[in-house]
Amino acid sequence: MLSGTIGHDLLANKRVLEVGSGPGLGGFVASKWAKSVVLTDYQDLVLDLMESNINKYNHHVATCEMFAAKVDWNDVQKDNYYTNIELIAEDGTVAGKLSDQQLDVVIGTDVVYWPTQVEPLMNTLDMFVAQNTGLPIYICYIERHVNTHNLLKQSLTDHNFTFSEFGQEITKTINADSYMYKITK
Ligand SMILES: C[S@@+](CC[C@H](N)C(=O)[O-])C[C@H]1O[C@@H](n2cnc3c(N)ncnc32)[C@H](O)[C@@H]1O
Repeated sequence: MLSGTIGHDLLANKRVLEVGSGPGLGGFVASKWAKSVVLTDYQDLVLDLMESNINKYNHHVATCEMFAAKVDWNDVQKDNYYTNIELIAEDGTVAGKLSDQQLDVVIGTDVVYWPTQVEPLMNTLDMFVAQNTGLPIYICYIERHVNTHNLLKQSLTDHNFTFSEFGQEITKTINADSYMYKITK
């Protein structure tokens, strides 16, 4: 979805952070349009892979800076968590703190799949919105189980997020159970 006109409309010249990036495919697609992209995940093995991928595959290096950062949804409520998140450059060195950068957009693909992780993910989105007023969040996923899908909507409501589905003309051609939400507070 992000590689087409929707990506351009949502991400052109924006500072983007991806939650639960894994190897970083969503963030790499975003780098086609964005001014900067921060890939995040919580496992050291995944972070190593991310850094290596940034080093090898940032084909838009002239227009988009890319960083990796460790963000564990289960830890975000710890004291001073946000101000301690480090940005790792493509050469593996620390390039500064995330809190020194304004974020314009948060994205997440396939991060709604395990019921116990929905609430920690909500806390994480809350943290990013608290630090970046008016921040829009775009979450895209294929429903794996109706319970998790419903839990997401309930949790968004409980956390006072406003959300709406969009892009159905694309998501539903991929899969009838595919969703993209715009989430704001
Ligand atoms: C199904 S994968 C999706 C990866 C990638 N976004 C994609 O679409 O290919 C879910 C990702 O969420 C990450 N994740 C799960 N729990 C997490 C947590 N507590 N904190 C941060 N990331 C987490 C996993 O490490 C994994 O990379």
